[in-house]
Amino acid sequence: MTIPHAPVLLNEVLAVFDGMRILSFVDGTLGAGGHAEAILSAHPEIETFIGCDRDPDALALAKERLLPWKGKVKFFHGTHSEGLSSGLKVDGVLIDAGVSSMQLDRAERGFSFQGEGPLDMRMNPEARLTAREIVNRWREEDLVRILKDFGEEPRARAVARAILAARKKKKLETTRDLVEAIRGAARGKKHLHFATLTFQAIRIAVNDELGELEKGIRAGAEALETGGRIAVISFHRLEDRIAKQCFRELALKETLQPLTKKPVEPSEAEVKVNPRSRSAKLRAAEKL
Ligand SMILES: C[S@@+](CC[C@H](N)C(=O)[O-])C[C@H]1O[C@@H](n2cnc3c(N)ncnc32)[C@H](O)[C@@H]1O
Repeated sequence: MTIPHAPVLLNEVLAVFDGMRILSFVDGTLGAGGHAEAILSAHPEIETFIGCDRDPDALALAKERLLPWKGKVKFFHGTHSEGLSSGLKVDGVLIDAGVSSMQLDRAERGFSFQGEGPLDMRMNPEARLTAREIVNRWREEDLVRILKDFGEEPRARAVARAILAARKKKKLETTRDLVEAIRGAARGKKHLHFATLTFQAIRIAVNDELGELEKGIRAGAEALETGGRIAVISFHRLEDRIAKQCFRELALKETLQPLTKKPVEPSEAEVKVNPRSRSAKLRAAEKL
């Protein structure tokens, strides 16, 4: 089995839980199981480890990787807030938000503007909403809203209109159709491909990523035992803002004590080896 891409901020995540006696742990975003493997190795005292992912392909891969801990690992197909909401009490929670390299790299999942695939972008293939539906059916105002709110695309209106104009001629079916529809209208940001922010916006909408992140952090905080810890890795400003605001609000309610005043970022060495880690930020907190 080839292991895809290194888990980000791995040492920094391990440091959050270092010295703790952890009996139960929830990895809310199991992915390829990289963080899970390291946490299980560092904490042989763990009795129950629950790995959640809404992508069944990720669960299948992680299952193979985590075979050495077969007796203690349970797999949950669904969102982390669902996995954490069953009245569970745990000592540690990890949420490594966003999309995985596996999802991005497989053109047939439709997440990437490089290569051609169907306009899908669902992390959970059983979910109802697809990118195809958004791009072909949503009204201009709704497209503008997600392009602004989830993509921070400076030319949101122009991009929305370009999508509407293209779909009038022919239904948009593939990632390539979308890239061509917005060519000339989308600007993106410096150093980024012009389609980056549009694809980000649609992907976040398809998977309700920001709403899910907030629900997951709240469910994680609720599930923690006193003294238990939660670590959250985000990949862009919008996610980090949610983690920051949730932690702040839960600190005011004396539910959580933040352990990171400022988010922890990857070292230069990590970014060099794994360029995808460059925008990662880690925040952690302890249950009061
Ligand atoms: C960045 S990857 C996680 C990588 C993982 N930490 C590792 O070491 O391999 C994010 C994973 O979380 C999943 N995911 C994203 N949002 C989720 C949510 N709200 N609930 C459950 N899984 C989610 C994605 O399907 C993806 O597999």
